[in-house]
Amino acid sequence: MMKKRLEDEFLKLFGSVEGVRYFFAPGRVNLMGEHIDYNGGYTLPCALTIGTYAAVRKNGTKKLRLYSSNYPETGVIEAELSPIKFESERKWANYPLGVIRTFQEDGYVIPEGMDIVYNGTLPSSSGLSSSASIEVLTAYLLCGLFGFSLSAVELAKLTQRAENEFIGVQCGILDQLSIAAGRENCAIFLDTSALTYEYAPLDLGENTLLIVNSNKIRALNESKYNERRQECEEALRRLQTVCDKKALCHFSEEEFETYKGVLKSEVLERRARHAVYENLRTVRSFEALKQGDIVRFGALLPASHQSLKEDYEVTGKELDTLAELSNSFPGVLGARMTGAGFGGCMIALIEKSRVSAYKEKIGAEYFERCGYRADFYEAEAGGGPCEI
Ligand code: GLA
Repeated sequence: MMKKRLEDEFLKLFGSVEGVRYFFAPGRVNLMGEHIDYNGGYTLPCALTIGTYAAVRKNGTKKLRLYSSNYPETGVIEAELSPIKFESERKWANYPLGVIRTFQEDGYVIPEGMDIVYNGTLPSSSGLSSSASIEVLTAYLLCGLFGFSLSAVELAKLTQRAENEFIGVQCGILDQLSIAAGRENCAIFLDTSALTYEYAPLDLGENTLLIVNSNKIRALNESKYNERRQECEEALRRLQTVCDKKALCHFSEEEFETYKGVLKSEVLERRARHAVYENLRTVRSFEALKQGDIVRFGALLPASHQSLKEDYEVTGKELDTLAELSNSFPGVLGARMTGAGFGGCMIALIEKSRVSAYKEKIGAEYFERCGYRADFYEAEAGGGPCEI
């Protein structure tokens, strides 16, 4: 169905669909291990079956012509194939343009321009990585069109660099790698220090993973995000004066408790504590999933939310309200915010039979308390990028 929509749109904009190819890349949801991908920690995301689609064709010119059905108001955005520059008025198109430019910087020769129509099924600015999805999709279609061959880790590193350098957001590798390495019905246990990963079956039995969008748009996200990164770097610098470790998440609980005195800052102590304990929760979550112990996994979720609220301070009223309501709702095994925070989405692991009662009750109470209508999606763990 999506292919047909893309085809119609492409035909309307670019005159014919001969030779057009179609690609998909998923979004992702993070199950555990929040804000520790830049602290050398473990994370446990899964790729989703919703994501971003593209119809693309080489156009024989030195121009790129990009269109998104999600942002029709920006029309077809034209850019020179070289040099590609960041221009804020190009809005969403800077994400794919940054990726194309990063390929060029790495020496990949892109001899001609392309016409591309994008269409995404992910809510934007909600913590499901719509930007990483369009980035990895663009990288993947370049490989398909021009014959480059990159592993999932290489795709993730390149697209992360595009986001860091071209867009200017200092994100870690979580989003891009979980999308590039997605596997159906699996959670991905990522080691962000070694850049290796393993899979665990996401077999939830009688339960389902509900993504709840608070619809609170993440305000101040980027500056607060970068601020947290700096605080973690400072905490690490201070801890390194007494213990030789490369990353905050390389400290065990015991080591952290022994050495935390050198932090000499209540704020830095809380930030570092989150990193150390969240890392441990991620290892425990992975073990629980491998053993099919969904109840044990669910029980770790509220503790993560609490830590992100109290110690890391990245939640906010809306996510806290949703988590509090969810964690006391019968049939919920556990709930926590997911993604960068400051708004966006929460996940709730819930018995299937309780989903409709949950949506009704939590939706109404959340609206009453916060004034936003929540959206609900049942998450399905999907595969990585592909040609369709
Ligand atoms: C954003 C970033 C990721 C990660 C998460 C928090 O999604 O892009 O790299 O840091 O926040 O876990």
